[in-house]
Amino acid sequence: MTSTDTPQTLVPQDSADPAAPKGAPVMLALHQTALGGPEVLRLTELPRPAPGPGEILVAVHAAGLNPTDFKHRAMSVFLPPPPQTLGWDVSGTVVETGFGVTLFRPGDEVFGMLPYPYGAGSHAEYVTGPTRAFAAKPAGIDHVQAAALPLAALTAWQALVETADLRAGQRVLIHAAAGGVGHLAVQIAKERGAHVTGTASAPKHDFLRELGADACIDYRSEDFTDAEEPYDIVLDTLGGETATRSVGVLRPGGVLVSLLPSSKDTRAAAEKAQVRAVVLLVEHDHAGMRAVAELVGRDRLRAHVSGTFPLAEGARAHALGETGRTTGKLVITVR
Ligand SMILES: NC(=O)c1ccc[n+]([C@@H]2O[C@H](COP(=O)([O-])OP(=O)(O)OC[C@H]3O[C@@H](n4cnc5c(N)ncnc54)[C@H](OP(=O)(O)O)[C@@H]3O)[C@@H](O)[C@H]2O)c1
Repeated sequence: MTSTDTPQTLVPQDSADPAAPKGAPVMLALHQTALGGPEVLRLTELPRPAPGPGEILVAVHAAGLNPTDFKHRAMSVFLPPPPQTLGWDVSGTVVETGFGVTLFRPGDEVFGMLPYPYGAGSHAEYVTGPTRAFAAKPAGIDHVQAAALPLAALTAWQALVETADLRAGQRVLIHAAAGGVGHLAVQIAKERGAHVTGTASAPKHDFLRELGADACIDYRSEDFTDAEEPYDIVLDTLGGETATRSVGVLRPGGVLVSLLPSSKDTRAAAEKAQVRAVVLLVEHDHAGMRAVAELVGRDRLRAHVSGTFPLAEGARAHALGETGRTTGKLVITVR
């Protein structure tokens, strides 16, 4: 894995806008003009965006990578076909503010999640976004740490706290608890006083315990439906059969929050078991970002960054991430 210590000298592979006016500011971006494997990502010179009303222009220091980046690189999930620059997570410095912005000033350090799904573009040297997609970066963490948090932490927060209304003493099952969303969800659930069980392969159980998990299930050798006591909440990061089988471990009135589209089988099982089954799509969220920053500030939430890659090597980060084995997060470093 590549360290962030060495300054990057970036040389564009492509120039996407030969018609751009001479002298207009440009930037490098991890850009694609076709859907496909990681090789479609090219370091490309593009016009630098300017902030519109209510927006800030951010000089990107680091940008987190999420499975939705791999998915949108390969297929048109929510977005129109390329050209496109992906990346929703960002940590950086405000360079310019658009009309009406009062929350931030040039020079402020911010982190945030660009509006999902239509606001992507952080895998670049600069990005614009609505002010309220951001919050002040906590002083105690660097940009790499901060860039790892937004999308995954907001997902965990919106799922457990806002959707499932997690209360102290409740029992929570978190699938893929060592992954990007899962490892932050474990910490958020513990901070709220829940009893947390996480699924992961056995070598990752020490990691889960360090995060505060009370119990670990090795999904390769154990069946999570063998639970002795029912759960109040399941965070389903896997979908499919796992979602349907998760209904059976919830008490009546319990909540299944899925991050992937639910099947007819899951919905039928939930109705029969009197379980509330919902699918969550993460939203950009100023209050959520402030809540995340507050937890970080109190040392109750930390992203585990297992790899960093310079922007020019973003394709390698995609290839590693889409193996589905990441512990914590991968981050692209820009400056
Ligand atoms: N709806 C939304 O708004 C939303 C938001 C965020 C994420 N998502 C989706 O949620 C999913 C998870 O995202 P993520 O960022 O957490 O992914 P991730 O970081 O790529 O997850 C990797 C982890 O998954 C674990 N894993 C793989 N198969 C598993 C299984 N069968 N049981 C338990 N753990 C397993 C791996 O552990 P091992 O190596 O031990 O297998 C690895 O640590 C993705 O599909 C993503 O697109 C949706």
